[in-house]
Amino acid sequence: MLRTHTCGELRKEQGGQEVTLCGWVGARRDHGKLIFIDLRDRYGLTQVVFIPSVSKPAHETAQTLGPEFVIRVTGKVAVRPGPKANPNIPTGEVELCAQKLEILNPSQVPVFEIDDNAQVSEELRLTYRYLDIRRPKMLQTIEVRHKLCSVVRHFMDSERFIEVETPVLTKSTPEGARDFLVPSRLNVGEFFALPQSPQLFKQMLMVAGLDRYYQIVKCFRDEDLRADRQPEFTQLDIEMSFVTEEDIFALAERLFQTIFREVKGVEISIPFPRMTHAQAMKEYHSDKPDLRKQGEAFSLAWIVDFPMFKFNEEEKRWESEHHPFTSLREEDLVFIEQGEYEKVRARSYDLVLNGNELGSGSIRIHKKDMQKKIFDIIGLTSQEAEKRFGFLLRAFEYGAPPHAGVAFGIDRLVAILTGLESIRDTIAFPKTQKGNCLLTDAPTQVDSRQLKELGLKVG
Ligand code: AMO
Repeated sequence: MLRTHTCGELRKEQGGQEVTLCGWVGARRDHGKLIFIDLRDRYGLTQVVFIPSVSKPAHETAQTLGPEFVIRVTGKVAVRPGPKANPNIPTGEVELCAQKLEILNPSQVPVFEIDDNAQVSEELRLTYRYLDIRRPKMLQTIEVRHKLCSVVRHFMDSERFIEVETPVLTKSTPEGARDFLVPSRLNVGEFFALPQSPQLFKQMLMVAGLDRYYQIVKCFRDEDLRADRQPEFTQLDIEMSFVTEEDIFALAERLFQTIFREVKGVEISIPFPRMTHAQAMKEYHSDKPDLRKQGEAFSLAWIVDFPMFKFNEEEKRWESEHHPFTSLREEDLVFIEQGEYEKVRARSYDLVLNGNELGSGSIRIHKKDMQKKIFDIIGLTSQEAEKRFGFLLRAFEYGAPPHAGVAFGIDRLVAILTGLESIRDTIAFPKTQKGNCLLTDAPTQVDSRQLKELGLKVG
């Protein structure tokens, strides 16, 4: 190890010990003969003092230090007498009196100050994301995200869920957005789609008898971007066999209670209130009403009884409100028979948090005939249905259990937990509003050899 302690670790108990710290140079204060620097790493900040009588070479080198230089300092921990202590930081009662200083790497003058209060454009922040992530607020958000995922994994494991990875190169699953396509070199003229969600794979896993699946998974949707939408985002994806809505709700409520307790230290009450879609539209003119009363901070609610179909005026056809694998209320079957599709209610549900759609799910269709019927209503011919979803229809012939599931947006949840406006700030390397990565400059053109191999021409 290049260091004995981190920059957030030293206390007066270590007074007199010889230690070595590594980190980035923050503020530097030259007080005549004494040079003070704030040495920073992920864990905190320690004041280092360079005194010529302690080490002339270290003091001389310290004069050349610029902001964000990476250095290694060895010295003795000195306890700062009462009035000189800094009560604002956990290491404030000590300082490191440098005996040896090594510059591990110098730095260009950073393009912006590593400070939460610095006014920096998002463009600059994203271009120099590695500097941006050094800012305390960004670091804290990344830590919250890590903590959230770790709490989720622990919880799901304790509930006997199995995490299974599903393919990223796959066939299109309609979730209402455009697909990102990946041309196949080995099958020229054919394309994979990046998954909009693992919807059909998780259903396959239920047919496979896995019973309880979850995954923290990347999803890809080529849609217009907003503050709460990214082209690649992360879901906590869940599927269960032999359950009803009540089981999904109870599981999710226990999960969110655990998340809020362990990540935020906040107790939320369960069960969450429920509201029908019709009631939400009538009373709030929104299917994701903000039910916060003045003064909870967090308000979670289930919206139920969504319509099964909506009419696409442009294409003059019915389409699924959630997705075409959602089953419907049995008592509304009669409306299917009568062709009154607008009256059919789906067995789907959304979880809303402070007026944001945090998650969606449904009881699935698990019978081939009903699935074919739904495909028919949304205008898929049996040949098209077979071509796109033949594998699903086939799986339903081999003992598909009744199953249901839900998926929650991890990026949105982190944004709400940390009070951020945009989910871009919850993602280490997000895309801009225009769908670019400013750090790497993706997407870029590719050379003609690559296009030729893929049988593609850019028009
Ligand atoms: P749905 O499409 O509603 O359902 O997505 C579930 C949740 O994922 C989040 N989300 C997004 N977050 C950031 N950027 C986006 N572009 C984006 N799109 C969606 C939202 C949303 O509630 N397979 C179904 C779930 C199921 O039926 O089990 C699905 O993906 O928080």
